[in-house]
Amino acid sequence: MRGHGLPMVNGQRSDIVMYWVMGNPVVLLGKMEHAENLLQKRMVRYGDRPQLVVAQEFITQNGWYIGTARCKHDTHKKQRKILNERLRAQALSEWAHPAELPQVHLLLERLAKHPERFVGIIKCFTVNVMLSTTFAHGAVASLEDPLIERINAATDHQFTAQIQGRFLVDYAPFLKHLPSWLPGMGWKKQSLNWRDSVNTLYRELWDVTEQQIENGQGTPCLVQSLLKTQMQQISKAEGITIGSAMVDAGTDTLTGTTIVFIIVCMYFPHILKKAQAVVDEHVRRDRLPDFGDVPRIPYITALIRETFRWRTVAPLAIPHAAMEDDTYAGYTIPKGATVFALSQYIHEDEELYPDHNAFRPERFLDDNGRLNGLPHAGFGL
Ligand code: HEM
Repeated sequence: MRGHGLPMVNGQRSDIVMYWVMGNPVVLLGKMEHAENLLQKRMVRYGDRPQLVVAQEFITQNGWYIGTARCKHDTHKKQRKILNERLRAQALSEWAHPAELPQVHLLLERLAKHPERFVGIIKCFTVNVMLSTTFAHGAVASLEDPLIERINAATDHQFTAQIQGRFLVDYAPFLKHLPSWLPGMGWKKQSLNWRDSVNTLYRELWDVTEQQIENGQGTPCLVQSLLKTQMQQISKAEGITIGSAMVDAGTDTLTGTTIVFIIVCMYFPHILKKAQAVVDEHVRRDRLPDFGDVPRIPYITALIRETFRWRTVAPLAIPHAAMEDDTYAGYTIPKGATVFALSQYIHEDEELYPDHNAFRPERFLDDNGRLNGLPHAGFGL
């Protein structure tokens, strides 16, 4: 299957492929070592994102959107710094974990009552996790709640705008100056409508959170932490964009991964049995596991890593852009080239993941059952 992924170059299968789209170079990386060498070790040269006019200038105005923010915007550094500080394990335990656990318990209760509705229940769970960790918003009771529909629509708009090539204006930026009544310019009005619906939704959620904090009722969440410590450095509009992008980045990815996990449990019942036995052995049976138990149950971490690897929800990851000319493995990569790490393809590399189609959490463990450091997904995070 993997052999069909990347085309032949000079009669040989290559793990790096370069091609041009309307004069713009695109590089595909098909091996973990290439993704790590370029996107992590040479981050200073590949830390930029490609030009996505609709995402960067229409939906967000100020280029703040996470995952598409460009180095030329002065907000890029601020945003990276704010998120790096807050997405570290220690910080997460302060503002995210307390809000996540009640949602996990609710998920389990709902799954136990209605296992046949697992997809809807999981979608509801992820929206609740993202709402309560980012904004101080209580859990929505069901999938019928109108807020779910609004979040799904906002996520769809943001996601669509990030697909390179979806809008011609990404390759021909002068088009953005033409009036929207001209034939073929409907995208302009559409993206401004999208901006309105995204902004209105997340401004409302921001205001509710701010109000709760003023009333002394706020619970720990990302926006609370921004409001307490960051508002000297960023504007309210920038804060709202961070909140909206977090919900966008976390919702579909978490839904997809949790659904893959359920599929794994159904297809490979022996994996579920083993996971249950490990938890029973290391966590007392009179309570549910929580984040404090994670170091004692490396098998469960390995199981999650294997879930990410086996069927990743981000098969193309998020594209990077080269900030200067570079040479690598015999290739000359020009400034401005778009660089994709082909996550799913990389995860099927037989050298790193022998028998890659098999679901085997043990590949992430050493002989003593400890995590062995085998890499997986999420390059650059
Ligand atoms: C669960 C499955 C997930 C997968 C497979 C995934 C994958 C990725 C990938 C491949 C990137 C691009 C990294 C890069 O090359 O720059 C990324 C970026 C990002 N992800 Fe995730 N992600 C997941 C969940 C989440 C969640 C739950 C959140 C939020 C709580 C999140 C927040 C972010 C943010 C903020 C970025 C942008 C980083 C930046 O541009 O500086 N992700 N993710």
